[in-house]
Amino acid sequence: MNIIDIINKTKNHSELSENEIKWLVDSYTDGEIPDYQMSAWLMAVCLNGLTERETLFLTLAMRDSGDILDLSGIDGVTVDKHSTGGVGDKTSLIIAPTAAACGVYVPKMSGRGLGHTGGTIDKLESISGFRTELLFSEFESIVQRTGFSIISQSGNLCPADKKMYSLRNATGTVDSIPLICASIMSKKLAVNADCILLDVKCGSGAFMKSEDDARRLADLMEKVGRMSGKKCRAIVTDMDSPLGNNIGNALEVKEAIEILQGKYKGRLYELCMELTAEMLSLAGKGTVAECFEMAENAVSSGKALEVLRRTIELQGGDGRVCDDVSLLPQAEFRYEIRAVRDMKITGIDSQEIGMASLILGAGRLSKTDTIDMSAGIIMNCSAGDCISVDDTIMTLCSSTVSDFSEASFRAVNALKFYGI
Ligand code: URA
Repeated sequence: MNIIDIINKTKNHSELSENEIKWLVDSYTDGEIPDYQMSAWLMAVCLNGLTERETLFLTLAMRDSGDILDLSGIDGVTVDKHSTGGVGDKTSLIIAPTAAACGVYVPKMSGRGLGHTGGTIDKLESISGFRTELLFSEFESIVQRTGFSIISQSGNLCPADKKMYSLRNATGTVDSIPLICASIMSKKLAVNADCILLDVKCGSGAFMKSEDDARRLADLMEKVGRMSGKKCRAIVTDMDSPLGNNIGNALEVKEAIEILQGKYKGRLYELCMELTAEMLSLAGKGTVAECFEMAENAVSSGKALEVLRRTIELQGGDGRVCDDVSLLPQAEFRYEIRAVRDMKITGIDSQEIGMASLILGAGRLSKTDTIDMSAGIIMNCSAGDCISVDDTIMTLCSSTVSDFSEASFRAVNALKFYGI
């Protein structure tokens, strides 16, 4: 086998065999195939796609490039959930403890934010002391004790994806449905939960901008999950406007805790209850409607918040944030954007809001950038709201940026409105 033949086959729409794909992934992971040749193959995939069989073989080869977790020591049904990412997406922080409070086990491996999208690991690290790199034995023990634990992609899990994802980021080859599918599903299959719920985001702040593409990705991931022996469901949800009111790491943890405290019920709460219900139903806990009620009870009884507190503490974090969100990092500088006239907000472009938040210090453009945990944006309005002159539309927060001109330009640019 040689890499030139493999690149040419994909370039000429000829299907690769399982052995060829395994050889390609293993040789790249071991450093035998250089980045420039792998980039050429990835670009051929971006342009020509892969068949379903090729996507399955790629996923499995990437999964098998490293360790596969053995969760058989956990005494119950394990359920994983994955969101394809977006702006203000703190659903995992709400869903995982809620599902755990309903009696399933949630072993979660999450990622860091890159570009305009946030990552659950960064968000959790805004809690003082919270450790996201755990030994597997510790991770397993926390899952068994509280019902859930979240770790970063550490150790030897999917090294092929780690290497390929960095290369894709640097070569404009991220936006390919089969490559996204293989990247996400290889990690999910390496974590190895019994059931997998996939939340495929669709809209301006998501990888998938159109409903059709989001549905294609969802169907493909569901098929790959099922062909790999998992109970798997994929649903498409909206990411045209940011999810919830807060964007930025500590701000999102605050909002998630406040949802679990029962303070707010809106689009974010509803979505979290729906996704939790899907997870519970996949795990055999009842119909989706029954599971929805179960999830709501877990929040209103305070059980879900208690699970979150115990997990935070067992992962070394300060569990008191569950009662007192002011213990989270607070921004030194704040800037309010106010309405200059009466207006109706018709939409909020989440990609632009994500970029404004990144400029404030909440995100990173390259993997080595450090994050300002206090930075981000508090939205005071949603699409469809009417705003009066001088009302605060949003508040920009940062401890590292005191000149708000660039971020406020991007944030205002995100608003779609007309005067009334
Ligand atoms: N998230 C991933 O883990 N991989 C992708 O390719 C895209 C989003």
